[in-house]
Amino acid sequence: MTARIDRLWPDQADDLNDDDLLDDYAFPPHGPWLRMNFVTSLDGAATREGRSGGLGDDADRRVFELLRRPAHAVLVAAGTVRTEGYAAMRVDQGASAWRMDRGLSAHPVFALVTRSLDLDPASPVFADAPVRPIVYTCERGPAERRAALARVADVVACGEDEVDLPAVKADLAGRGLTRVHSEGGPSLFGAMLAQGAVDELCLTLAPTLESGDGPRIASSGRASPTDMRLVGALRAGDELLLRYRRR
Ligand SMILES: NC(=O)c1ccc[n+]([C@@H]2O[C@H](COP(=O)([O-])OP(=O)(O)OC[C@H]3O[C@@H](n4cnc5c(N)ncnc54)[C@H](OP(=O)(O)O)[C@@H]3O)[C@@H](O)[C@H]2O)c1
Repeated sequence: MTARIDRLWPDQADDLNDDDLLDDYAFPPHGPWLRMNFVTSLDGAATREGRSGGLGDDADRRVFELLRRPAHAVLVAAGTVRTEGYAAMRVDQGASAWRMDRGLSAHPVFALVTRSLDLDPASPVFADAPVRPIVYTCERGPAERRAALARVADVVACGEDEVDLPAVKADLAGRGLTRVHSEGGPSLFGAMLAQGAVDELCLTLAPTLESGDGPRIASSGRASPTDMRLVGALRAGDELLLRYRRR
């Protein structure tokens, strides 16, 4: 059974269907636009037992899947790809048909961010990819790993020691990929905030207190205060699914 989601704000509505949710989560008509998606506990933990999955419920997973649907590219940093055991970026048949009806490719492009290039070219992320992925790295990345990944992905250097995220956005836009949806993780989000690259945050507030020493959703050595305004609030039982845009 599909997890029930109601809209609290701006217009109250009960039991939204997928089309309603896709309308709520539509990208602005003009890009480039970078949207992040995270789940957090009430006390700010981004993980339970080292992964985000333990915090999310069926409603969070429903929105997680729907958010990929209108995206030109899904951007994920290497830490999350490794920890969460990502497979190829592939939406289901219904989502694929929905995309093609709207002139989009059958699947979004998988774009990855890594300094070390420590990603296995034989993994399903690349071997099973329906669209050639893009790996964003720095000039200083190890040459052998770069050559190995270049056989299975476009490898693009943006920045010397750190991936320059506005440059990533510009490179994606140059490929016609202006609607960028990012699934994290915290270090990538911290770097994006430091570089002023984030336009929107979709945040699931899971009704749990975790304590412990799990990471927050944004992690960086450098504080980057970024004012946000609320543009949508959904509710699934005790959980809130919030959407904020940068002021
Ligand atoms: N709550 C949630 O919604 C959520 C979402 C995603 C992830 N998570 C959790 O977050 C944890 C992972 O945290 P994390 O901070 O390690 O994840 P991360 O941000 O996904 O990955 C960090 C890695 O990404 C690369 N990277 C990120 N920004 C970079 C930049 N500007 N330049 C160059 N490389 C960059 C580096 O890869 P290399 O090491 O390859 O150089 C870096 O070590 C996991 O436990 C995961 O489950 C939670």
